[in-house]
Amino acid sequence: MIQLEDVTKSYRMGKVEVRALRGVDLAITDGELVAIMGPSGSGTSTLMNIVGCLDVPTSGRYLLDGTDVSRLSDNRLTKIRSRRIGFVFQSFNLVARTTAIRNVELPLVYAGVRARRIPARLLEQFGLGECQKRLPHELSGSQRQRVAIARALINDPAILLADEPTGNLDTASSAEILKLLGALNDTGRTVVIITHEEEVARFAKRVVRLRDGRIVSDQVQPSRTEVNA
Ligand SMILES: Nc1ncnc2c1ncn2[C@@H]1O[C@H](COP(=O)(O)OP(=O)(O)OP(=O)(O)O)[C@@H](O)[C@H]1O
Ligand SMILES: [Mg+2]
Repeated sequence: MIQLEDVTKSYRMGKVEVRALRGVDLAITDGELVAIMGPSGSGTSTLMNIVGCLDVPTSGRYLLDGTDVSRLSDNRLTKIRSRRIGFVFQSFNLVARTTAIRNVELPLVYAGVRARRIPARLLEQFGLGECQKRLPHELSGSQRQRVAIARALINDPAILLADEPTGNLDTASSAEILKLLGALNDTGRTVVIITHEEEVARFAKRVVRLRDGRIVSDQVQPSRTEVNA
């Protein structure tokens, strides 16, 4: 359970204070599939960074499964993150000179923990069995994003956060990645997708809209659209 209570986040840029989040209340239950939308600069990535324990609020509380994580040290946050949360980014964020399979293993190296999932199995599961030894530039956009999703799942996190996961993909590849995220949600994971695309948002069961650092609407979708890959 993700629970944000009156969360604000401000950045200081010299004498100017940028108020990226201005009092966000948001509760996401285990197993939900939520899209977060908002114009550029509205605070969606800032929100994801806080939900993902990459950053802490300036004020307000963040309860993750009932534990207040808003004032924890970097060390504690890193531990929580590596065990409970997987990240997927628009730009894939794969390490360039490193094979697909090594990329999937990398979070473990950084976190110094043992894998809960077997990297080769994850790649196979995502149709990348033949691609294990390839470098990122030898893969298509959709294949790269699938490697990134495999990497996000290496520790079997309960929460998967994706910041514009289809932002760099063509329509067919986007549909493929959404299907995959949908399937991961169907098996019980909480999935949060940040997107600028209405089509992607329609795929979610709930859409939260931000504007200027505030939630302006939060709607459960009457009928969720299936995507055709
Ligand atoms: N590290 C930072 N230092 C200073 N300002 C920041 C920082 N990160 C974000 N901001 C500012 O906070 C506001 C929200 O940024 P954020 O990245 O959350 O927007 P966003 O909704 O993700 O936008 P986009 O859709 O373009 O990715 C923006 O005005 C941005 O310039
Ligand atoms: Mg962003």
